[in-house]
Amino acid sequence: MAGERSFVGILIKRLFLGGVAAVILLLLTRFVFHFPPVFQFMFVLYAGLGTVVFILLDAPAVSPVSGLKALVALVVFYAVIAGTFIAGAHFLPQYDPTVEKGKIDKIVKPKLAATDKGKMDELLKRSVELNTQSQAIMKRLEALGGADKLKAAEGDKGGGGAAPKAAAGDLVAIGREQYDLQECYNCHKIGGKGSVKKRGPILDNIGNLMKAEEMKEKLLNPRAWMADGFEKEYNKKLMPDKYKELMSDQEIDALVAYLATLKDASVETPKPIKK
Ligand code: HEC
Repeated sequence: MAGERSFVGILIKRLFLGGVAAVILLLLTRFVFHFPPVFQFMFVLYAGLGTVVFILLDAPAVSPVSGLKALVALVVFYAVIAGTFIAGAHFLPQYDPTVEKGKIDKIVKPKLAATDKGKMDELLKRSVELNTQSQAIMKRLEALGGADKLKAAEGDKGGGGAAPKAAAGDLVAIGREQYDLQECYNCHKIGGKGSVKKRGPILDNIGNLMKAEEMKEKLLNPRAWMADGFEKEYNKKLMPDKYKELMSDQEIDALVAYLATLKDASVETPKPIKK
């Protein structure tokens, strides 16, 4: 009897302590950490579970059981535990990963737009747009009767003269974007911008030094040409041999069209040497 009474005392004391812990956790999670209500509830729940374990530590020993009685007690024990877990899992809020992902996207999307990856995605989107635009222009040109007619139209400066001008401008714009997208600037400099470590030659005057076909050849097969004074880099195969896989024919033509406009003779550009 004395043992039982003292256990009641322990029970009251520990329930009180558990209650205090629960209140402290609730106040902390709500007012200090500003957790969402679900997590506030979880912390209070943990305080409750802790209290139960704390109480069980000093619970009076149960008298030993054996035989069928023990088996039934064991099964009932498992049933209660399993029931508690299943019920707990059922009543606690469940997380739907797609909903959570949606929430995260909502927060991250605007931020992503401002980052480099966002910019890269924008550039890619823009290049696709420009590509479709250029294809539309090509179709229009074909409808006009191909390149010969174009030249004639340009000659007489008639109504058709505006179309080839716009087409050439667009092609160069696509080429300039390709130069950025393919990250040629990592090794090359144009207009003083690009490669800080002088890995590859300055390209400011390349339009005067190489014909369009030659530049195309260089891009498709970097071994075909070597920039004067860049023997070491040429031998190290620094200029990547990957553009024929990475770029479409149109993109290469556009890039070459852009490079062909680089005709600043005042900037020393290494002479290309045929290999
Ligand atoms: C990893 C560095 C690197 C990248 C990226 C690179 N190049 Fe080069 N490029 C070089 C080096 C080094 C040379 C000089 C050696 C040689 O000719 O192979 C060179 C040479 C050239 C030349 C000949 C220049 C001259 O004066 O003879 C052209 C044109 C050229 N690159 C265009 C490009 C274009 C366009 C791109 C992007 C599609 C590009 N390169 C990407 C390193 C690079």
